[in-house]
Amino acid sequence: METISRTKIVDVVKSEAFGTQVNVKGWVRTRRGSKLVNFIALNDGSTINNVQVVVDVEKFGEAYLKPITTGACINVNGTLVASQGKGQSAEIQATEIQIYGTADPDTYPLQKKGHSLEFLREIAHLRPRTNTFGAIFRIRHNMAIAIHKFFHEKGFFYFHTPIITGSDCEGAGQMFQVTTKNLYDLKKDENGSIDYSDDFFGKATSLTVSGQLEGELAAMSMGAIYTFGPTFRAENSNTPRHLAEFWMIEPEVAFNEIAENMQLAEDFIKFCIQWALDNCMEDIQFLNNMFDKELIERLHSVMEKDFIRLAYTEGVAILEKAVADGHKFEYPVYWGADLSSEHERYLVEDHFKCPVILTDYPKEIKSFYMKQNEDGKTVRAMDVLFPKIGEIIGGSQREEDYEKLSTRAKEMGVPEKDIWWYMDTRRFGTAPHSGFGLGFERLLLFVTGMTNIRDVIPFPRTPKSADF
Ligand code: 4AD
Ligand code: MG
Repeated sequence: METISRTKIVDVVKSEAFGTQVNVKGWVRTRRGSKLVNFIALNDGSTINNVQVVVDVEKFGEAYLKPITTGACINVNGTLVASQGKGQSAEIQATEIQIYGTADPDTYPLQKKGHSLEFLREIAHLRPRTNTFGAIFRIRHNMAIAIHKFFHEKGFFYFHTPIITGSDCEGAGQMFQVTTKNLYDLKKDENGSIDYSDDFFGKATSLTVSGQLEGELAAMSMGAIYTFGPTFRAENSNTPRHLAEFWMIEPEVAFNEIAENMQLAEDFIKFCIQWALDNCMEDIQFLNNMFDKELIERLHSVMEKDFIRLAYTEGVAILEKAVADGHKFEYPVYWGADLSSEHERYLVEDHFKCPVILTDYPKEIKSFYMKQNEDGKTVRAMDVLFPKIGEIIGGSQREEDYEKLSTRAKEMGVPEKDIWWYMDTRRFGTAPHSGFGLGFERLLLFVTGMTNIRDVIPFPRTPKSADF
């Protein structure tokens, strides 16, 4: 085969260099046609669009073309010609075709008929070859770029916090243990507790549930930082919004108080959505057509209004009134309750018809590190609630007072010996500061219109499921 440097299909379909020789490589979506001419729809993952390869059957021979079935990988040289079909400017008249790899039609699971999302989850190793998952994972990439761009341009530093940790940031006991100990032969101490002194780290360690505590250390020295990394939670909740392994973005800013923290969250999320609209429109348009006819409209609608800012207490009053007026929720709502997503979505979708930032939650349902309000009952927490999702961001102003923080940690059973280094920031040059965590996959649910979080991460980890 003649050596011609490869052009990605994203560029080929837009090219107008008709008459030139080009090379494309990719996976066959379909091959159809007659005894005289075949049309191969070829995709290489660079775009939702396929390039049409036109094949003169006589030139190649029917027997040679036969193994070019859905899923096969081919290498094509050809002449770029103006497309007869609508939508695309260019197609390729094949001059040479090399078959890299065949895909037996009897066993290749991705035949052209539409497959259910559930079925595709079982073949997560192949699903990026579908239009849907190609679109989702290209959007995922673009959103990661948007996140770095937003913070970098605002002068935030990307700070890497550890994955293996000896402390429980959220204090919720949802951590996966990390050990090299032989589980068949565990050494116990005199109280019957496991003795970790001979374990790899010489102490009990886990996968992190949040980089926040270390992020605070960085904010209290570098001013404004963000983390963006994998996060692990062993919460046994099999819901369409929870993963055992997800990615979280956590900015932390010295001297920011809660109002500035809310503004940062709103600006950040709007920047990401605008980025998606500006950079991923073909993929979003596809998802809009295939899955969610209101997707694009919804993306635009959150850009238009300022997010509502509302105290938890007022939010609960609205929900209680809804119940009194006959609205049925699955879970009870009362002051002190941890709101569930049906409550959050009622506020956003039914009541305000706009994203809501709920603040000042009861201290009992929030983490030990949140700044305590003067009422003695609430903390300066903020959750950003989104249509279709519920909570997309959780954050707070942090308690900067050593004594108050220490008392609260004790009350909530967080051992100070595990977080002595965190407490040091309050002993040495403490200052007001705030931050939040955005669940990357929750953002992707919103941007893609998908309804199950398993469909916006390449290889989901959920209870009883860690394949691939
Ligand atoms: O509200 P969370 O638990 O807050 C924290 O972890 C804080 N340390 C963040 C901070 O202030 N720096 O989690 C933050 C966000 C949630 O709003 C949600 O979007 C996402 O992380 N999240 C999950 N996403 C997928 N699967 C799970 N199991 C998630 N748990 C939380
Ligand atoms: Mg939360």
